[in-house]
Amino acid sequence: MDLLLFVTLTLPLCPVLAGAVGAAVFEKVCASCHGGRGEGKTELKTPSIANAPRWYVMRQLMNFHEGRRGQDAANDPQGALMAGIAKSLKPGEMEAVAAFVENLPLVVPSEREIAGADVQRGQELFDERCMECHRYNASGEMAFGSPPLIGRQGWYLQEQLHKFKNLHRGAARGDDKGAKMVQMATQFIQDEQAMKNVVGYILTLNPVASKAEAGTAIFAPPVLKR
Ligand code: HEC
Ligand code: HEC
Repeated sequence: MDLLLFVTLTLPLCPVLAGAVGAAVFEKVCASCHGGRGEGKTELKTPSIANAPRWYVMRQLMNFHEGRRGQDAANDPQGALMAGIAKSLKPGEMEAVAAFVENLPLVVPSEREIAGADVQRGQELFDERCMECHRYNASGEMAFGSPPLIGRQGWYLQEQLHKFKNLHRGAARGDDKGAKMVQMATQFIQDEQAMKNVVGYILTLNPVASKAEAGTAIFAPPVLKR
């Protein structure tokens, strides 16, 4: 019997095995695109996923798996790529890899500025419209289903906001969390400049990597954990 399959079947019984499956799935399936530390790769347009909370990773994997995200390859080629991967995973593998990803140390994006962004105005918009769900430090809030925005690259955040605005994410039936974000992006992010501003501000909320250089792993603040 396939080791992964065997382990998946016995998963609920054994946390040690679950850990092994999570690591194995990550190495075998995820690392080639998202990087060995989950740091993301700009050239492949993959986001950093390191340290993303398991409830959020699980929800996105299920969204991709069940066709609520990445279902439109013409308008969302990156999402479609990821959907293909998620559809090949079994529920037990998704659970295990989500737990593994949550435990990867946060990776601070190496580019911490957006050219032409007015960070001050970005902060005003963030405080007024985003903070209530994503929290003042953009560390996310499980109760609202809103993910941390720190750790993610600026270009990725901008692309997601475009997707929400253009209904290429969050518009599918049953994606109630995505629908919330569609509403926010269309109502409150007026134009390209406002988007740059707010993402530029979000990037400043990343913890300063004191000893480590930007782009290397550092430990996440405890608020990120459940
Ligand atoms: C073939 C390349 C590829 C592989 C392999 C891959 N991904 Fe992805 N993944 C992507 C791309 C591209 C995106 C960005 C989708 C978008 O822009 O909407 C993505 C997005 C995601 C997201 C959404 C992040 C967010 O902030 O919403 C999660 C979670 C994720 N991947 C987890 C995984 C996991 C776990 C694995 C391994 C089981 C994996 N990916 C394997 C390419 C890949
Ligand atoms: C009412 C609560 C709420 C507010 C207010 C809100 N968001 Fe969100 N946001 C969410 C939820 C929920 C998600 C997760 C959507 C999903 O599950 O696909 C999300 C997801 C996102 C994502 C995608 C992150 C990723 O990793 O793919 C970005 C970017 C984002 N929000 C930015 C913002 C910005 C900028 C603002 C302010 C203009 C904002 N949000 C206001 C609830 C909110």
